[in-house]
Amino acid sequence: MKENQCNCKCKGIDPKLEKTKQIVEELKDMKGALIPILHEVQDLYGYLPEEALHIVAKELKIGMSEIYGVSTFYSLFRLEPKGEHTIRVCMGTACYVKGAQNIVDKLNSVLNVEVGKTTQDGKFTLEVARCLGSCGLAPVMMIDNRVYGKVTPDDIIKILEEYK
Ligand code: FES
Repeated sequence: MKENQCNCKCKGIDPKLEKTKQIVEELKDMKGALIPILHEVQDLYGYLPEEALHIVAKELKIGMSEIYGVSTFYSLFRLEPKGEHTIRVCMGTACYVKGAQNIVDKLNSVLNVEVGKTTQDGKFTLEVARCLGSCGLAPVMMIDNRVYGKVTPDDIIKILEEYK
């Protein structure tokens, strides 16, 4: 298969890989170009797919290990696609002391997913946050843009039902 060629039946050039090449071309001469390039690529795909990172490495003439080093160091970068819904459990002080860890533990067991990962069916990505700005409702969790306050582990199954 030719470089940047699409895997689908169209046998054409994958437009996102072409765009990735264009992003690198536009930003590569700036100082510390790797991070802004990774941001743009993540905006394009929603995460950093391996095939796009190979293009970045090739065009910047750097190793994949350097790219993985940067993309795993910064929590903003994702190497896997996000799930359909993002669950964020607040682990800030107010929520932590009100039992946020129990919420995380319950989600781990109900969804069989660890923090930072996505369920096998691609439905939910589980994340933790520092403070979701609703400390008076601790412990707080969000699913996408909806806030759930004073959550208990017993509420979890009922809440998740809303997204099935
Ligand atoms: S500490 Fe949890 S919302 Fe602020």
